[in-house]
Amino acid sequence: MADELFNPLDPEVIRDPYPIYRALRESDPVHWHEQLGAWILTRHADCTQVLKNPDIFAADFRKVGIPTPGPLLSLQTLDPPDQTPLRHFAVDALRRQDLRALEQEAAARAESLLDGLADRDTIDFVTDFATPFTLGTISHLVGMPPPEADEEWRRHNDRLHRSMDAGLDPDSEEAGLAARQHFSDYVARWLARRPETGISGYVAANREGLDYADEVLFNSLRAFWHAGFEVPARFLGNALMTLQQYPEVVNELSGAHVDTAVEELVRFSGPVHVVSRAATEDVTIAGRTVHRGDMVVVVLAAANRDPERFTDPETLDLTRDPNPHLGFGRGTHSCLGNVVARIEARVALRALLTRYPRLAVLGSERFLNATLHGHSRIEVRLSGAPALAH
Ligand code: HEM
Repeated sequence: MADELFNPLDPEVIRDPYPIYRALRESDPVHWHEQLGAWILTRHADCTQVLKNPDIFAADFRKVGIPTPGPLLSLQTLDPPDQTPLRHFAVDALRRQDLRALEQEAAARAESLLDGLADRDTIDFVTDFATPFTLGTISHLVGMPPPEADEEWRRHNDRLHRSMDAGLDPDSEEAGLAARQHFSDYVARWLARRPETGISGYVAANREGLDYADEVLFNSLRAFWHAGFEVPARFLGNALMTLQQYPEVVNELSGAHVDTAVEELVRFSGPVHVVSRAATEDVTIAGRTVHRGDMVVVVLAAANRDPERFTDPETLDLTRDPNPHLGFGRGTHSCLGNVVARIEARVALRALLTRYPRLAVLGSERFLNATLHGHSRIEVRLSGAPALAH
């Protein structure tokens, strides 16, 4: 039976889910969704409680008897203590990289992409700028060239995306697993060549000390690489679409407020809307009993507009500080690449808006995904229009 309050796959809901998130938060913040067979959590305090307690709310569904297919086994689907050495290894690998040089390299990439677009009347921000920018940056950081972006790549990438909603759309699961396997195989072949630079160089040189199956290591590096371009590319599109609704705040991006501006854009229009966990014991959340084995869907995007946590949550305030948003998650599975995401965001938005303060969004198409919100196309005229207006 369809849920009366919330159908996450409805294109209208995907276009603007915030009114429904608000209704859920106000009327039924721990909502049992019959069709999903899961609890939907929309309050900041409840979402934080779940994310900070991996013993009770597990990312490793095997603890409640749900098998994890091979291509999904990674640091994302293990919990402490099993996850801990791998997560520490990944944090160390990232710490060993020269992030200052990465920022300079990303800034040069942004400028060079914009140079290449300079004589175009209109561009598709997603495919002409955001995706090549984030893909180039993550490839440099990982030290692994991206697979050729041919038809096969696109097919696998589309299938992987669709399967992010597998909880709602079970038919998408199998093809999504095959796509993940395809990208993990690519990572495995790359590591076999013993790369010497970037994160893959660190992994190749230090993996002996790690006590994990090869597939867990390959899948984890694949997850890092894939999240490292797809998610920030969606974020940049969302940020642009948000900013064009608030042209008066754009100046704050180029000034001293760029860091708080990026945080606020992640809070206000962050791309990752939901993450899921499984309850490993009976537990009460806000007076509702969640039973062992129940799935819990944490709606980060709803928590990020909870008036109990944020003053004027529906207002975009690029100077907001502190900003305890959950856009990068929280706890042991929080975003490993948040530092990289922040670098990419400030570099890309600054480069774009410094050069084209008067760019105009002419039209856009939604990326129809309930988990990862963004756009598949954003048509932009780079100059000659009033600042960021329609
Ligand atoms: C604006 C951009 C980004 C946003 C909003 C974002 C958001 C998130 C969120 C919400 C999670 C938590 C998932 C959960 O709790 O289950 C996550 C995890 C993760 N992110 Fe990001 N992310 C971004 C960019 C990146 C980048 C650039 C990288 C890599 C360089 C990356 C790598 C990862 C990885 C590997 C995980 C899994 C961590 C784990 O399970 O231990 N992300 N991200």
